[in-house]
Amino acid sequence: MRVGVVGLRMGLHLATWCRRVGMDVVALCDRDTERLAGARERFPEAALTGRWQDLLTRGLDGVVLANDFDAHAPLALAFLAKGVHVLSEAAACTGYEEGRQLITAVESSSATYSFAENYVLHPHVRLIREAVDAGEVGRVSLVEADYLHGMSPEAVAALIGDPAHWRGRITATAYCTHTVSPVLAVTDAWPVEVTAFSADEADPRAAVVMTVRLSTGALAVTRHGFLQGEPDSHWSWLSVRGTRGLAESVRGPGEQAWSVRFRTEAWAAPGGVTRDEIRVPPPLTLRGQPVERVAEGTVLLLQAFRATVERGASPLIPVRPAVAASLVGTAGAESLRNGSLPVAVPDLGDSR
Ligand SMILES: NC(=O)c1ccc[n+]([C@@H]2O[C@H](COP(=O)([O-])OP(=O)(O)OC[C@H]3O[C@@H](n4cnc5c(N)ncnc54)[C@H](O)[C@@H]3O)[C@@H](O)[C@H]2O)c1
Repeated sequence: MRVGVVGLRMGLHLATWCRRVGMDVVALCDRDTERLAGARERFPEAALTGRWQDLLTRGLDGVVLANDFDAHAPLALAFLAKGVHVLSEAAACTGYEEGRQLITAVESSSATYSFAENYVLHPHVRLIREAVDAGEVGRVSLVEADYLHGMSPEAVAALIGDPAHWRGRITATAYCTHTVSPVLAVTDAWPVEVTAFSADEADPRAAVVMTVRLSTGALAVTRHGFLQGEPDSHWSWLSVRGTRGLAESVRGPGEQAWSVRFRTEAWAAPGGVTRDEIRVPPPLTLRGQPVERVAEGTVLLLQAFRATVERGASPLIPVRPAVAASLVGTAGAESLRNGSLPVAVPDLGDSR
């Protein structure tokens, strides 16, 4: 499978894993000449270019979009029109019109769209999802999801302080898919309405809390941004309360953070005895070698992309849930602008 990659910071990391899972990385693109030159050493055989349009005519089977957060959809549209399968980083779109355009383009393309949301595939999220699917916690009532960095004020300012960079220009709610996509995957729901709050009005860009009403009737509470107490499971923490029990990531340091606590009260437990246990996700291997916990989501994501392109497997996270998760960020921004009033997430149509 011949792939190209656009955007060579996160994209170079993805390119390295693309090669490890067996794809041929044949073209790399970055408009920054230093980033481009830096990629030459690792991928001497790949064609390098500063113009992503050059990748449209290189006979690619797939393209990985890891350029600016708020600029993926135009590239996805162009590659889909050329029949090139797309794996796109978040966000999928920056608003409803762009999201609809993307869905229409996927529906009329011979190629597929996959969302590169590795947080859905992190070990703790997979373990919780399996338990929910097996009915262990009953019907899901409340989901909480965190994506939090405990960086110093200086490091945060350096990261998001430049309005010319996408990290500085996107809204505080935009970077929400690392929390919202796992919520949608675990509940098999769609977001219906969003209410967003700044965590701290003295520093409103730092972190937001959103409540998301889901189509199943459950409520999700998501927290993302820069707050103290970051989880060691790649900054991600997930908790699911169902009508018959709880499954949530362990709030502990290091490796513990990938584990999941299950709690079932005596009245709901088989045998009538309260069950409170910690489960460790099974390890993942690639060609017989263990994969680092933090990379498991990326490996599974890229293997799934390969299966989609080579064997016609369904995309793991297709376009509609990708757009829906991204629209939570835009609805959240509107809620923040309106004093935290609830904002409806636009309906993506019957077949969503
Ligand atoms: N899933 C994850 O764990 C994860 C982690 C980090 C970043 N990301 C995502 O990856 C994307 C990139 O993030 P980043 O941290 O690497 O950002 P970055 O700004 O550090 O790097 C983006 C790169 O893309 C290049 N670029 C931007 N527009 C381009 C264009 N039109 N043509 C050619 N090159 C272009 C830039 O020059 C830059 O080198 C974002 O969408 C981000 O959300 C995901």
